[in-house]
Amino acid sequence: MIQDMKVSYSGVQPSGNLTIGNYLGAIRNFATFSEQYKCFYCVVDAHAITVRQTPADLRRRTYETLALYMACGLDPEKNTLYVQSHVPAHAELAWALNCFTMFGELSRMTQFKDKSAKHSDNINAGLFTYPVLMAADILLYQTDVVPVGIDQKQHVELCRDIATRFNSVFPDTFTIPEPIIPKTGMKIMSLADPTKKMSKSDENANSVVYILDDRDTIIRKFKRAVTDSDTCVRYAEGKDGINNLMNIYSTFTGKSHAEIEHEFEGRGYGDFKLAVGEVCADALRPVQETYAALMSDKAHLEAVMKKGAEEASYYARKTLSKVQKKLGFVQIR
Ligand code: TYM
Repeated sequence: MIQDMKVSYSGVQPSGNLTIGNYLGAIRNFATFSEQYKCFYCVVDAHAITVRQTPADLRRRTYETLALYMACGLDPEKNTLYVQSHVPAHAELAWALNCFTMFGELSRMTQFKDKSAKHSDNINAGLFTYPVLMAADILLYQTDVVPVGIDQKQHVELCRDIATRFNSVFPDTFTIPEPIIPKTGMKIMSLADPTKKMSKSDENANSVVYILDDRDTIIRKFKRAVTDSDTCVRYAEGKDGINNLMNIYSTFTGKSHAEIEHEFEGRGYGDFKLAVGEVCADALRPVQETYAALMSDKAHLEAVMKKGAEEASYYARKTLSKVQKKLGFVQIR
């Protein structure tokens, strides 16, 4: 709670071009909290460097991610939009929380296991302690709700465990946050391998639909999506490709699986794939137009970053100094 308002907090890594998974699972939902919650949405550049980044790309994507937040309806007057590295309290709280996190807990994180398999030449300590930095992000703002896709649920649960452990030693320090996971769109799968999550770091660009893909590219990618040898559009076990396309269609249109099955009765996969591509392209067009206008004004984006960093720092420092006092660090002013 901040000033009698509940707090919503989330973040996105500027580690690749953002996908419709990021959009449907997370960013699209952020704005739904803007009226009733105090909202903080962060571009988590410090998280991104757990995997080697090209500095120029990281810098560019930091602007792009902020512009996409705004293009997806996040008004910087109603939401605190900022870049993680601009608020050093994140790194400071993460250190303290490292001392309240168990090695065994971090070893069980599935994202760590996946990423260390994928980057076996760079299994660095940051990759291992990544969830502690994420816990610091969330806890600094006394967060009540964390809108995320299902892949981040385990990290939010660990954050709750760390906060509960800290509070049991030092009562009333942190609010215990709840993950908010959308009913549809929580896990958009790859178009090339629908048993795998759609991911911005996938090397096969055809498996991923990016928020900024043009209409023809979107439709082409959906047309090539892997399905099965059946011809009937229905949601069923073993039909991972069609199930994924139905989920995407359902998330964009609000239609239930039964309604979609009815709509495409007697029609083949070709018609269905085209329809999914079209609703996706139609939904993304206004986002892309606003994004293009925002990216043409870097100075404005920097002003948003600066204002966001000042606002975020104000609240973050409050929690950090409370933690430091409780831990026994001498405060000097
Ligand atoms: P990141 O950058 O991988 O993803 C950003 C958000 O997008 C969601 N998402 C998906 N949702 C549905 N289907 C998909 N295929 C898909 N891919 C990604 C993610 O669940 C996430 O909500 N650790 C976080 C970033 C982070 C964070 C935080 C989030 C850092 N600090 C504090 C919340 C609160 C991450 O790597 O997200």
